Amino acid sequence: MKLYLGVDLGTSSMKILLVNKKGEVIKKVREYYEVHNFNEVFNEQNPLDWWNSFLIAFKKISEEIDVNQIEAISFSGQMHGLVILDENDSVIRPCILWNDGRSEKETDYLNKVIGEDFLMNEVGNISFSGFTLPKLLWVKNNESNNFKRIKKIMLPKDYIVYRLTNNFVTDYSDASGTLLLDVKNKKWSKKMAMIGNISLNILPTLHESTDIVGETNHEFNELFKISKPIKVVIGGGDNAISAVGTNCLKEGNATISLGTSGTIFVASDKFVLDKSRAIHSFAHANGKYHLLSCILSAASARSWFLEKVLNTEDYSKNEEEMTFSLKNNVLFLPYLNGERCPYNDPNLTANFFNLRYNTTSSDMSVAVIEGVCFALKDCFNKILEDGLSFNHTLITGGGSKSKLWCQMLSDVLQIPLYKQNFEEGPAFGAAIVAMVGLSEYASFDKFFAQNKIEESVFTPNKEMKEYYDRKYRQYKKLHNIALELVDIKNEK
Ligand code: XUL
Repeated sequence: MKLYLGVDLGTSSMKILLVNKKGEVIKKVREYYEVHNFNEVFNEQNPLDWWNSFLIAFKKISEEIDVNQIEAISFSGQMHGLVILDENDSVIRPCILWNDGRSEKETDYLNKVIGEDFLMNEVGNISFSGFTLPKLLWVKNNESNNFKRIKKIMLPKDYIVYRLTNNFVTDYSDASGTLLLDVKNKKWSKKMAMIGNISLNILPTLHESTDIVGETNHEFNELFKISKPIKVVIGGGDNAISAVGTNCLKEGNATISLGTSGTIFVASDKFVLDKSRAIHSFAHANGKYHLLSCILSAASARSWFLEKVLNTEDYSKNEEEMTFSLKNNVLFLPYLNGERCPYNDPNLTANFFNLRYNTTSSDMSVAVIEGVCFALKDCFNKILEDGLSFNHTLITGGGSKSKLWCQMLSDVLQIPLYKQNFEEGPAFGAAIVAMVGLSEYASFDKFFAQNKIEESVFTPNKEMKEYYDRKYRQYKKLHNIALELVDIKNEK
């Protein structure tokens, strides 16, 4: 039997799906790793932890399945992370992640001194502190010895691909989030490389997501007794690959992901510039484009509240309790890591409002997931202003296991939300990319035409509209208070 491996290099774990040609899941493996969070907004991971997790996960698969049946591997990766290697290919410092807010000064320099107009014209996006270039400038300004040693810059999934194939490559969807790619014309920008003080030859070779970029190397083949090297298809950034997995390919189709981050992805045939400059214009994995908005805390806000504050991992009990707290006065701003879209402010902090003696932990749990819905509504409204529509919207990611949350988001946005009966959109998407890369299907559309993936639907409850509209207005007012709190916090 021919098999395909989809690897999702997420923020909290690596998820691997082994599927057959019909997209049926043969095996799932998940390996967890840590995010090292310090200094409030510094978030790092060691690329070697990802590689070790990949080896452990692959070993688990090889213990149950003849890995010689695997035709191809492809990847979905957390975006924007800065991985830097020296002349011996050693990792110079831990990867600075997509949700890291340390590069505020560098982001200000790019947006204010280099100028937003210049950036929009050159790469189609302004700078956000999670993007790769401002973090590279941070290394230059704060760790000049590390900066001088850089011989290769890559994104998280590209590191795994490099270890697996020895080929230094990336794809357009992931490269879009570096601020070094001219997204519209799909080429590295010489001007941006100059601004970053780097030469273009320390950046990986660019590919479409379905390109075969090599095969498993001798060392890997020996380790797992692979007789015919496995083809490696590059894949892409996790949101674009999740969009493949959720069949978000046609213009106006959208995917909302409740993962560590919360994202809204809308497919577009043409390159669209966001009017507000608060949303990202990136390349899709199908050769076209998309608009992407990203809030920094989604399912991660829920797990923070449950696991760190309430000290429990009993998500189903919490889900049940929340049904009795649905309408309450508590409000929550979910800026546990500052916020990316649409505010671009690493200094914003999370806050609860309207607490009383009779407030319960489930009232607060409801407020947390409501707060994430309102933060997504902020982004949703910006995308509508750009003239894109939400014709068919899928919901995915770990948070979408909560039916209550899916229904609430449908009520807040007042649109139907469709859901596949699994949450591994990115790993599933990567497996489909592997198949299309090997020409098992001529396109992603052909895969979905031949293999029907069932979807259930959450229909917006019209009666909740007024309630959530009112609460959203209150949320917006509180956001302004959060801005004032930033000033108070920064007062010396
Ligand atoms: C998108 C973004 C996040 C990460 C998380 O811009 O930063 O969605 O890719 O995986």
